[in-house]
Amino acid sequence: MSRIGVESAFDVLVKARALEAQGRSIIHLEIGEPDFPTPAHIVAAAKQALDDGWTHYGPTQGLPELREAIAEAVSRTRGIRVGPELVSVVPGGKPIIFFPMLALLEPGDEVIYPNPGFPIYESMIRFLGATPVPMPLEERRGFSFDLDLLRDRLSPRTKMVVLNSPQNPTGGAIPRQDLAAIAEMLRDRDVIVLSDEIYSRIHYGEEPPASIASFPGMQEKTIILDGFSKTYAMTGWRMGYGVMPAWLVEAVNKLMVNSASCTATFTQRAGIAALTGPQDCVDRMVAEFRRRRDAICAGLNRIPGFRCAVPGGAFYAFANITGTGMSSKDMADFLLNEAGVSCLDGGCFGEYGQGYIRFSYANSLANLEEAVSRIRKVAHRWEAVAAR
Ligand SMILES: Cc1ncc(COP(=O)(O)O)c(C=O)c1O
Repeated sequence: MSRIGVESAFDVLVKARALEAQGRSIIHLEIGEPDFPTPAHIVAAAKQALDDGWTHYGPTQGLPELREAIAEAVSRTRGIRVGPELVSVVPGGKPIIFFPMLALLEPGDEVIYPNPGFPIYESMIRFLGATPVPMPLEERRGFSFDLDLLRDRLSPRTKMVVLNSPQNPTGGAIPRQDLAAIAEMLRDRDVIVLSDEIYSRIHYGEEPPASIASFPGMQEKTIILDGFSKTYAMTGWRMGYGVMPAWLVEAVNKLMVNSASCTATFTQRAGIAALTGPQDCVDRMVAEFRRRRDAICAGLNRIPGFRCAVPGGAFYAFANITGTGMSSKDMADFLLNEAGVSCLDGGCFGEYGQGYIRFSYANSLANLEEAVSRIRKVAHRWEAVAAR
C-alpha cells in the first residue's frame, strides 16, 4: 500500500469544501467533471429501466445490447472493426487502467506514460512493482509526445505505452502524423498500448482526435479506454468501457468477477440511450466549453507571470506560472486560501507538471470571469517578480 498513489483533485475538493463550511466563497476549478446535468433522455432511460426491473445482476462483461452499441460507436468513430466480444463494460473509465495493468504488469516491466499525466497511471505502475518511465510532455510541443524522447525510452523491457489524447491535465492532443510515427515505432514490438480516449468527444479542432488503434497492425495491441463520464456528463453513474484484444477481455472478465461482478444494469440501459440517442447535447456542451476555454485562457494570459497555451481538447487550462517566482504548490495553496479559487498544482500530475497550475473550466462563464478577477486582485504578491 505504500506504493499506491491518490488523485489529488479529491483531496483539494475536501479542503475547499472545509473552507466553504467556514463561510468562505470558493470557486471550484479543481475537479474534472462537466458541470452540466446528465441529458434528460439518458436519465429517463435509467428511470424506465428501474421500473422495468433492471435491478439484478447482469453479465460480467456487460449487457450484450450495450456492448453492441459501444462496438458500433467505436467502429464508426475510430474507423476500425470492433465486435461486441472485444468490449468490456466496467464501472467507470478508471477500471480500464486498473484491470489491464493488474493483468499485465510484473516487476521488471517498464511502462512509458505521459508526465504530467492522469496520476492513476503512475500510481498503478508503482503499485504493481513495475518501473515507471515518464514521458515528459512539453509546452513548446503543445504538450504532445516528442518522438525522439519516446524512441530513447523504448527498451526490450517496455511492456506498455500509455497514451492520452486529448490529455488531462494539459488539454493537449497528439497530432495524427505523430500517432502514425508512434504506431510505426511500436508495431513490431511486443508491447501493449493503453490509449486513454476518455476525452475523445471533447475537442475544438475541425478533425476529431485520431486513435492509435486505427493505424495498420495496432488494433490487436491496443486497449482503448473510453466511457460515459465526460462525454455525457455522467461521472457519478460509474460506467466506462474498454475495447481490447479477446485474450485481454478474458482477463478483465476474471478480475471483474472477483471484484464488482458486473456494472449496474439500469445504468447500462441508460448507456444504450446515451450512445444511440440524440447527440446534440454533446455538441452543445462542447460549444459551451469552447467559449469558456477562450475566456479563461485570455483572462489568465492577462495576469502578470502567467502564460496559458490554448488547449485543443478536454476542459482544462494548464497555465505556466514560472514567471511568478512561486512554486506551483505554493501558488495553488495561495489561490485557494487568499483568492478563494480552488485549482490544482501541476506537480500533482508528476514532476514535469511542476511550474504549472491546472484550472478545470467545467464551471460557468461568470464564475470563470470572477476567478480570473480574484487572481488579478492578489497578483500584487508576485507582480514585482513577474515584472523583472
Ligand atoms: C485521463 C483520464 N482517464 C480516465 C479518467 C477516469 O474516468 P472515470 O471517472 O470514468 O473513471 C479520467 C477522469 O478524470 C481522466 O481524466
